[in-house]
Amino acid sequence: MAIRIVREDGDEILRKKSREVEVVDEKIKQILDDMVETLHHYNGVGLAGPQIGLLKRLVVIDLYDDKGPIKLVNPVIIKEKGEQEVEEGCLSFPNQFAKIVRPMEVTIEALNEDGKKIKIKGEGLLAQAISHEIDHLNGILFVDKIIPGTLEYVTPEDQKKGKNK
Ligand code: NI
Repeated sequence: MAIRIVREDGDEILRKKSREVEVVDEKIKQILDDMVETLHHYNGVGLAGPQIGLLKRLVVIDLYDDKGPIKLVNPVIIKEKGEQEVEEGCLSFPNQFAKIVRPMEVTIEALNEDGKKIKIKGEGLLAQAISHEIDHLNGILFVDKIIPGTLEYVTPEDQKKGKNK
């Protein structure tokens, strides 16, 4: 396991579209483990492949609840329902938070770390995190969706309490 360097605002890899993973092998498992370790190191809620410099459709999410870290390979949104206005940040934008609109409910299909097909339905914060991370795989960043006038810059002290994704 290793903590990976998180690419930040201005790194053009964040704007590129990630490719599907063809085989979920040991190497992919290792990357997913590293992503979880990196996520936890930065107290984040979610992390996507491009954020560690890999254009692979890989996502990890952890809401620090009993579901534990969720590892997703090639996640695809198959259903979205409703809307929620949420406060959001991103590990690639360490000082910025803003309000944006996300779906209230998201259903996805993906492969797990064993290459098995899974289906997950997320509501509220989980729906927000899934939507945010899948955007990353398509080169879309939360700053593209900011509700005008809601962008805030916070200090590192504030960040420690924050919800970085
Ligand atoms: Ni993010």
